[in-house]
Amino acid sequence: MLRKSFHPAAVQSRVVTPTDACWIFGYGSLIFRPAIPFVERRPARVRGWTRRFWQWSTDHRGQPWRPGRVVTLAPAPDDCCWGIAYRLEEGEAESVLAGLDVRECGGYVRMGIEIEMNGEAGAERAAGLTYQAWPGNRNYAGPAPIDEIASQVAAATGPSGTNADYVRDLDAALNTLGVADTHVAALVAKLGE
Ligand code: SIN
Repeated sequence: MLRKSFHPAAVQSRVVTPTDACWIFGYGSLIFRPAIPFVERRPARVRGWTRRFWQWSTDHRGQPWRPGRVVTLAPAPDDCCWGIAYRLEEGEAESVLAGLDVRECGGYVRMGIEIEMNGEAGAERAAGLTYQAWPGNRNYAGPAPIDEIASQVAAATGPSGTNADYVRDLDAALNTLGVADTHVAALVAKLGE
């Protein structure tokens, strides 16, 4: 199983420069709808973080008057978050990032991060970046009981589709990767009720 073969390592966050942009880690919509050109795509994880529906979406999966909930990374020292790492063509990184900056403009910023991937020779690490929605950003929703999150998701829709489809598409993509994410699965179960 993918997640058993990695060695412990601390997650490092640092200031991001465009030259770090060759690897991008996606943990939300970037898993199931990358819509970016890339050279290579690999299952990967970041240590010290967990995926949470703690960010409002007013531009993709909700509206300003009825926001949806999308994922961000919450610190979790003993956990890790699985997703997909995309390697960009070096000469294209800046323009791809510029496009992603627009797509992720609802409160996300670039964050430098160490990404761990499975390669033929075992675990491989690479410096890369991800889009993170920090607490305090203008769309930060924060924690809430799962029932409350589910009713907000069920009610929200935006230009990119329904918020429920975002959750289900993410869940399906994680299942395909063989990743068990209890937070995502709990929300899917509530939406099905
Ligand atoms: C990501 O996919 O990595 C960022 C969050 C999102 O757009 O859902």
